Amino acid sequence: MPLPASAIPAAPEENRILPAFRESAEVLTLLALRRSTKVVHLAPPGPDAEQLDALLRIAARVPDHGKLGPWRFVVIAGDGRERAGLALASVAADDASAEAARQTFLRAPLCVMVVSTAAPHPKIPEWEQQLSAGAACQNLLLGAYAMGFGACWLTGWACYDARARAALGLQEHERIAGFIHIGAPTEPPSERVRADWRQRVSRF
Ligand SMILES: Cc1cc2nc3c(=O)[nH]c(=O)nc-3n(C[C@H](O)[C@H](O)[C@H](O)COP(=O)(O)O)c2cc1C
Repeated sequence: MPLPASAIPAAPEENRILPAFRESAEVLTLLALRRSTKVVHLAPPGPDAEQLDALLRIAARVPDHGKLGPWRFVVIAGDGRERAGLALASVAADDASAEAARQTFLRAPLCVMVVSTAAPHPKIPEWEQQLSAGAACQNLLLGAYAMGFGACWLTGWACYDARARAALGLQEHERIAGFIHIGAPTEPPSERVRADWRQRVSRF
């Protein structure tokens, strides 16, 4: 059973001294064992309105150089899933891809489109702003998982097609960091091949 939104601490006021962070075997277990859930294995129910608010708050609580908040979240749920799919279908190359596009958001109960709003800034490179949007995607995955949902981070052609981005309501400079599909997992996860992290470590 997913946890209710009330399981998550309220947002602290600015400058409040936060409780000391405690070591947590549960958080370590989450980080060590988290797996994405395939979108075809995400069934209703998705997060309710309060759970979604809590997840978006968690998503927005990421490292953010310059406090720019260089991301925004577009919730694609309910009837919006069909509308967003039709918007993509309207710019698809042919009939077959239009039908696939129409189905894009119908596969899971809810999707959050994480948009990088990175723009030129006198001090903060756009790269750093984009990394913050990636961190928001990962926070959303972790939050969804910890709440008891399954989730997966997908992109696809629409992210790299200016007409598709416009059809989804993005401004010209905005980019899609990811579509985070969320729902109730219908299959237990199994481990997949992992990049060998040892081969990717070097030392000065
Ligand atoms: C930016 C980004 C985009 C991704 N896009 C896709 C995608 O379009 N299709 C796909 O099958 N996996 C995609 N993935 C990979 C999955 O999200 C996921 O990481 C992968 O299935 C491995 O699962 P894991 O998260 O359990 O390790 C993407 C990952 C990232 C970071």
